[in-house]
Amino acid sequence: MMNSKEIIEKLNSWKKSHSCGELRKNDVEKNITLMGWVQSRRDHGGLIFIDLRDREGISQIVFDPEESTEAHQKAHNVKNEYVIAVKGRVVSRLVGSENPNMPTGEIEVKAKQIKILNISEALPFNIDDKLEINDNLRLKYRYLDLRRPKMQKNMNLRHQICMEIRNYLNNKGFLDIETPFLTKSTPEGARDYIVPSRVNPGKFYALPQSPQLFKQLLMIAGFERYFQIVRCFRDEDLRADRAPEFTQLDMEMSFIDREEVFNLIEEMFIYLFKKLLNVKIKTPFLKMDYQEAISKYGTDKPDLRFGMEIIDLTEIFQDSSFRIFQDVIKNQGKICAIKIDGDRKFSRKKLDDLQLLITSFGAKGLSYIKIKEGKDFQSSVAKFLSPEEIEKVKLKTKANPGDLILIVADQEEVVYEALGNLRLKLANDLHLIKKDKEEYNFLWVINFPLLTYNQEEKGYEAVHHPFTAPLDEDIKLLDSNPLKIRSKAYDLVLNGNEIGSGSIRIHNNDLQKKIFQLLGIDDKKAEQKFGFLLQALKYGAPPHGGIAFGLDRLVMLLAGARSIREVIAFPKTQKATCLLTDAPSEVDIKQLRELHIKLNLPQ
Ligand code: AMO
Repeated sequence: MMNSKEIIEKLNSWKKSHSCGELRKNDVEKNITLMGWVQSRRDHGGLIFIDLRDREGISQIVFDPEESTEAHQKAHNVKNEYVIAVKGRVVSRLVGSENPNMPTGEIEVKAKQIKILNISEALPFNIDDKLEINDNLRLKYRYLDLRRPKMQKNMNLRHQICMEIRNYLNNKGFLDIETPFLTKSTPEGARDYIVPSRVNPGKFYALPQSPQLFKQLLMIAGFERYFQIVRCFRDEDLRADRAPEFTQLDMEMSFIDREEVFNLIEEMFIYLFKKLLNVKIKTPFLKMDYQEAISKYGTDKPDLRFGMEIIDLTEIFQDSSFRIFQDVIKNQGKICAIKIDGDRKFSRKKLDDLQLLITSFGAKGLSYIKIKEGKDFQSSVAKFLSPEEIEKVKLKTKANPGDLILIVADQEEVVYEALGNLRLKLANDLHLIKKDKEEYNFLWVINFPLLTYNQEEKGYEAVHHPFTAPLDEDIKLLDSNPLKIRSKAYDLVLNGNEIGSGSIRIHNNDLQKKIFQLLGIDDKKAEQKFGFLLQALKYGAPPHGGIAFGLDRLVMLLAGARSIREVIAFPKTQKATCLLTDAPSEVDIKQLRELHIKLNLPQ
């Protein structure tokens, strides 16, 4: 065995002439130079075959002693993931040995010379899309994970999406302007990541949860159309579609109303989907009131690729003899249902499982009625239901024999949360989402409430953020009934995922102050936290509004990936750690002293 010093050679003047994925039949007889990683090596008697991989694909290289004894000899030393350079000529594969599953499968390269540019230890996992690799291992060796074709494809798509977004927005007169990372807290509802200032002892920056206030200032500064593909930082509980640092496509425009925002964004999506996926998407996107979304789908980001809407049965059970229903009605709760069509079979065991499942969605229980022929039915609460009630339920749910009706009775929010989640779970389990039909289902959710009441804090909170304008016709409710005020906010939902959120903003200083008051932010606190914005609003702020898209979510959906971590090069774990670099980590006591920080860790 030779040691690495003996076999590693310098590149010298060799230049890569082609990528490993691009050679085709019409390249036959060309003399080429390929460079890349060894995917595999096979010894077949006198011949050695190497699959050589780079980011564009794989080419098969043949080392034939008749072509070059030296190259053939050297190829014996090559192992998986060695970095090599090969000079050779492209030939057609012998009839019968073509590989139709490989884009380069009609040709191979007969090697004349080979250089081993670097060696590799045995990998912790093979570079193979088909293998199930432990997530932690993937993150620890992310640079190897990223070598996998699927990950290379995802990163490539991400790049293409960003390029096309920039192209499109540049043509529409948007300016790409950077905003600070070391800044002041921005109110997007999550916890801030804070950064101590060495030169200002005891003071901290906050990393931006979004560029919200800066983009509004850019409108006041007269830029009219701004965009940025920008990192945002939020210390919040993580899920498959959330990361502590994520990327937004952030936009803001002056002199526009909601309709213009909708039109511009829809046009952008037509452009992106055509360019990137060659898919023609249907516009205008459907618009749905927040209230309708909640009452029919139990969520403000409904997936409309399947039906199974929530049906309100409260009226029917006004005089129910069932204690649980009576209590719910007495406490102003709701009794709602979803219906599963009869062609889906549900065993007793499956129904019991659903009972369990519903508690994980926050409800106390689930009743069911299985409709049978004539007046017959089977139900978990049969003895409490009158024949009239059953008939009314059948009528209201348009149920046929064989259909299954699942009922939750509870406080309104609980019912919607539970049935909304159950609806999604069932659609998944029962394969109700037809992939070929309506693959991309866009929806604008509009007319959100401006405020919500936080029971714990005993005060109003902004549903979006405090800079969102109320609907003009609802401004009169500011004093009398704030919870009834609807806002000029909008969310864009794609296949049940919130991919973007925005609003027309308040551009009037008095109204902004008034909203701060409602939110319990008194003048002094408003001055402290947002004084710069209130000040700026006094100097000729144009009407403006905007939106921000979760770029990672968008790429995830276009790539058909299951988590945003699949489309972020170096993502963090659910616990916001980086397994590759080991961040966050302890710092030197000297660094802390410079920052005037003393740790007080729990014992
Ligand atoms: P919002 O907070 O709704 O609005 O964020 C906009 C979009 O960003 C994505 N997103 C996330 N993606 C991954 N990980 C996260 N932790 C995460 N949080 C949000 C979502 C979301 O729709 N300044 C306002 C926008 C505006 O009003 O213009 C804002 O940030 O896709």
